[in-house]
Amino acid sequence: MTSPTSPAPTSLACLGTGKMGCALLQGIVSRHLMPAAALTLFDLSPPALAAALAALPGAHLADSALAAAQSSEAILLCVKPAGILPLIASLQAIPESRLLISIAAGVTLASMEAVAAHHRVVRVMPNTPALIGQGAAAYALGTHATPADAAAVESLLRAVGTVTPVAEPLLDAVTGLSGSGPAYVFTFIEALADGGLAEGLSKAQALQLAAQTVAGAAALVLQSGLHPALLRDQVTSPGGTTIAGLAALEARAFRSACIEAVRAAAHRARELA
Ligand SMILES: NC(=O)c1ccc[n+]([C@@H]2O[C@H](COP(=O)([O-])OP(=O)(O)OC[C@H]3O[C@@H](n4cnc5c(N)ncnc54)[C@H](OP(=O)(O)O)[C@@H]3O)[C@@H](O)[C@H]2O)c1
Repeated sequence: MTSPTSPAPTSLACLGTGKMGCALLQGIVSRHLMPAAALTLFDLSPPALAAALAALPGAHLADSALAAAQSSEAILLCVKPAGILPLIASLQAIPESRLLISIAAGVTLASMEAVAAHHRVVRVMPNTPALIGQGAAAYALGTHATPADAAAVESLLRAVGTVTPVAEPLLDAVTGLSGSGPAYVFTFIEALADGGLAEGLSKAQALQLAAQTVAGAAALVLQSGLHPALLRDQVTSPGGTTIAGLAALEARAFRSACIEAVRAAAHRARELA
């Protein structure tokens, strides 16, 4: 059952409370979409479970994946891709009304539906900035999932960032871009800061300037609606400093490296399937 005012589920189980599961739950609770008391957690790793409980005081712990899933209206499947199908197979006894939401990279809806009895399945690709309400997620519905399920999933994900529906084959592209993307951006920020360090800035100053530059530039793209090439052109003057820096990036195939990073991660997601 969903509440009459919100399409979000009234209770949510999380199976696998590692980095991504915890980030989603913390975002959902801190944004007041659901109270921690509406959550039931289960993880095979006691340290991961203890860390999740510490981050989500008031959440319930379950003795098994099945017990957690029995107790909740929707079930977030947040284990590594190789563990998803055995986990779903172990949940066949739960009522048909339960909604299964997988965040695993590369695991297809068809493969999950093949082991999920008649449960409705949704495949989601979130990213870790969900932890602070700045996530970027996409999702695709399984064959039994309904528009109400789409609304429930959108409600959960919108609490922790942006969300967009895509055709399922494109979820691998989403994985390569926004799912894995924070790690590329962390690397970029670190490298920018190292450049500042090499030019004499303190470590703290360099890191703060680098991170805020990335955050500010991203906000400018999103808020202006302008293409990044146009924004770049606006700050690149003839014979100036910026074109000198851009030329150094071009000489080292920076844009090509970014394109290939997304494609390699998408390829890896398809391999995992
Ligand atoms: N991290 C990201 O940025 C990101 C982004 C998008 C999507 N994802 C997806 O999110 C999923 C989880 O990734 P993660 O980075 O959060 O992994 P993680 O930190 O390793 O967390 C997974 C947790 O699930 C536990 N686990 C394994 N099998 C289980 C089972 N049958 N029942 C309950 N718990 C079980 C693991 O315990 P053990 O360590 O003891 O196995 C671990 O504590 C992956 O499928 C990944 O594709 C991750």
